[in-house]
Amino acid sequence: MSNAYEIIDHQYDVLVVGAGGAGLRATLGMAAKGLTTACVTKVFPTRSHTVAAQGGIAASLGNLSDDNWRWHMYDTVKGSDWLGDQDAIEYMCREAPAAVIELEHFGVPFSRTEDGKIYQRPFGGHMKNFGEAPAQRACAAADRTGHAILHTLYQQSLKHGAEFFIEYFVIDLIMEDGACRGVIAWNLDDGTLHRFQAHLVVLGTGGYGRSFLSCTSAHTCTGDGGGMALRAGLPLQDMEFIQFHPTGIYGAGPLITEGARGEGGILRNSEGERFMERYAPTAKDLASRDVVSRAMTIEIREGRGVGPDKDHIYLHLDHLDPDMLAKMLPGISESAQIFAGVDVTKEPIPVLPTVHYNMGGIPTNYRGEVVCPKDGNPDAVVPGMMAIGEAASVSVHGANRLGCNSLLDIIVFGRAAAIRAAELVTPGQAHSSLAADAGDEAVARFDARRHADGSQLTADIRLQMQRIMQNHCAVFRTGETLEEGVKLIGEVWDGLSDVKVSDRSMIWNSDLVETLELDNLMAQAVVSMAGAENRKESRGGHAREDFPDRDDENWMKHTLARIDAGGKVNLDFRPVHTYTLTDEAEYIEPKARVY
Ligand code: FUM
Repeated sequence: MSNAYEIIDHQYDVLVVGAGGAGLRATLGMAAKGLTTACVTKVFPTRSHTVAAQGGIAASLGNLSDDNWRWHMYDTVKGSDWLGDQDAIEYMCREAPAAVIELEHFGVPFSRTEDGKIYQRPFGGHMKNFGEAPAQRACAAADRTGHAILHTLYQQSLKHGAEFFIEYFVIDLIMEDGACRGVIAWNLDDGTLHRFQAHLVVLGTGGYGRSFLSCTSAHTCTGDGGGMALRAGLPLQDMEFIQFHPTGIYGAGPLITEGARGEGGILRNSEGERFMERYAPTAKDLASRDVVSRAMTIEIREGRGVGPDKDHIYLHLDHLDPDMLAKMLPGISESAQIFAGVDVTKEPIPVLPTVHYNMGGIPTNYRGEVVCPKDGNPDAVVPGMMAIGEAASVSVHGANRLGCNSLLDIIVFGRAAAIRAAELVTPGQAHSSLAADAGDEAVARFDARRHADGSQLTADIRLQMQRIMQNHCAVFRTGETLEEGVKLIGEVWDGLSDVKVSDRSMIWNSDLVETLELDNLMAQAVVSMAGAENRKESRGGHAREDFPDRDDENWMKHTLARIDAGGKVNLDFRPVHTYTLTDEAEYIEPKARVY
């Protein structure tokens, strides 16, 4: 099949797929260590979804309130509802202050305190002294923190001589004997196909939020790395854990940062009640996201929603100082005006929990290496392959991620991947030859999609998938809705064999891009639904009404989901790391989560 296409070959020491914060932090780190580094990305780097991250990056700098990395670690383990790996969580929280100071030195324009330190605001679930009271831990550049970080990392990557292949769509991994050897990519701009060979392939491809109808994710968030991993026969981990951000703008979806509540914003129901006081007496509106999203959903269900249909909640900022809003929350003030027609200084913003983040992903260790159980070792490394950021499951977020731990995750583990790459690869190390047919399977799949001549449009299949995920894999789930969801999503998946791609061209063929993206989204939707149906407990973002309690005895374990050659989902498990990385941290025993 590859004979039908000319393939252009490239060799690099390391190859990073994706140019969001994780991909760029890895790219710059690897290039700075003298490794020839290529970064392949389907969008221009500064348009990656990290640009939309608003409220901050967590680090226990203690600039505005006492802080300590052990408190941060405690909050993250508790926020994860004890599904997070404690060695990785220790690593992330310990490394956070140094990683943020390094960003400052790279040039990130953080907001400042009166005395010139990095400004920090409170964020959900981040507390002082092991849960006593909210801490100010989110280091912020107004409400455009991701934007500031992304631009800085791109500049630093260029400075260190990384090579960018921009608007190249990666079709699939090249795997040989269980090791990753490279990727096949399509240059959208001139229609050429490329085979990249590298000693290490790093997937920083983001989440698959677009498998849902209403999400804060960009249209580009189609989980391309996860789709490739599944097609390579590798498992994805904990895919049933999907985060709903409490404050997506009602009807439109865009994010209103949790930083708005960090600055004093308050959620109220139709009775004007600050209802979070009932659900989380200490943290109130700054409880962790799963807790707040469930509370909002209960308020709406019990008839205390706002608006003509009583189907959303109000976020009030109108009691706050307008100058502070203009200075610290300019981005969301503008979004509220554009998407809800609301002047935040005078009126509340209509909000609703909206899909925001995938806790699950490609399983890795804290160095960014992909792991897959083998010969009785649950942590066996897949040679040549790394995953970082939302594409990965390290697992620092477990069953629920704390706000502002995502920007931290991408920076700390992007950096960790670069450190590990420099240990594993010598600059200029010789490449062994690839098999003559390396990449043929990927090209054949690409060609089949390009010429797909069925009867269903990609957009129609995608919409069906998004509706099913939204309705059946929601904030609250039941066995009945999930069983039906598994059946329905299976039927829609089957529909993909009848897809029609009308545009056969090779240049800027968005019909084909969207179909390849749909392949990636669909595979992850299918394993998410299967994992959710299978997990008979409630934990973090997975709230089962028929199994309302967390069940540590039977379910404190990671789900691993694979799709076999016949298209069947296989579920397995992997132990949670119930140990710390060093003796300086203490293992945090499971207990009930109270905020
Ligand atoms: O609310 C926010 O600003 C989002 C932050 C995050 O998801 O970490």
